[in-house]
Amino acid sequence: MHTYILGIETSCDDTSVAVIRDNVMLSNIIAGQDVHSAYGGVVPELASRAHQQNIIPVVDTALKKAGVDKKQLHAIAYTNGPGLLGSLLVGTSFAKAFALGLGIPLIEVDHLHAHVLCHFLYREGKSLPEFPFLCLTVSGGHTKLDIVNDYFSFNTIGSTIDDAAGETFDKAAKILGLSYPGGPAVDKHAAMGKAENYKFPIPKAGGYDYSFSGLKTSFLYLIRDALKNDPAFIETHLNDLCASVQKTIIDALMHKLMKAASDKGINCIALAGGVSANSALRQRLIDEGKKRKWQVFIPDFQFTTDNAAMVAIAGYFKYRQNKLGSHKALPYARQSQKNKN
Ligand code: KG4
Ligand code: ZN
Repeated sequence: MHTYILGIETSCDDTSVAVIRDNVMLSNIIAGQDVHSAYGGVVPELASRAHQQNIIPVVDTALKKAGVDKKQLHAIAYTNGPGLLGSLLVGTSFAKAFALGLGIPLIEVDHLHAHVLCHFLYREGKSLPEFPFLCLTVSGGHTKLDIVNDYFSFNTIGSTIDDAAGETFDKAAKILGLSYPGGPAVDKHAAMGKAENYKFPIPKAGGYDYSFSGLKTSFLYLIRDALKNDPAFIETHLNDLCASVQKTIIDALMHKLMKAASDKGINCIALAGGVSANSALRQRLIDEGKKRKWQVFIPDFQFTTDNAAMVAIAGYFKYRQNKLGSHKALPYARQSQKNKN
């Protein structure tokens, strides 16, 4: 018998709903929120309101596109953290009400687990990572290195001590006057620039940890000083600036990843999270993987940034292990608040 799971993702500014049959994605609808573009970043209150408007039509569309009736669903999986609390509350409240109405189980999914587990969605001709594998999760709010021992057994060996990699892309883009989210814009301009033209100190942190706040500051100071002499500095050097800052971020990410892979003797390496959409990072992983004989797992573009298919597949594995949720579960903004409420 097949298992049908509906996944709901509302942790930030994308309202997404997906339906899967076992590990096969049947639909994955994502409604973005243009309302933030005027502000250069996500405005939490506006995000919650947009989720409220989007959630019912997106659920409806996801079910229709999947060709699945709500009565066929076995469980509702939803992201309950980390993320923006107001946004999470919309998904949480909807998921609880929907599961209660249908009389089916509710499953809580950790957003970062979901990013990693996207690799287990079925894709024709593609193999699945084998445990244990090393996963670098790089998103707007998080940067971490995990040894993934099983679907729900993660050993986090490193994480950022300040800014996340995605946040660094976004901040660099903001300094350059590019629109939010900055990652895709930096990626596009970097492809036309020379990465050697500007040198930034490689961000340093102990062990397998990351640190990006110093890079952001040195990037800001370079631009501020250069603009004093040449008001057209950004315009003239945009591509090279993007290429240089991007290379510094990627070098820092790869340095710790390569060290961890070699120290731990793991050669199955995966990438996850929004920054895994970055074309240079993807290429770099492929190149290093060839040199080091790694088996490399890079998400399809549709599973890099926030999406509900990854929530649904995480929910599927929890359902199979009977790790069902509770109507009393509360959303949490930060990982450190998980299970404390
Ligand atoms: O995983 P995600 O969608 O949301 C969070 O969980 O935070 O990641 C969003 C982040 C943003 O910082 C965005 O700028 C970054 O992913 N991003 C990229 C690219 N596409 C999205 N960063 C670099 N290059 C890209 N092509
Ligand atoms: Zn995310």
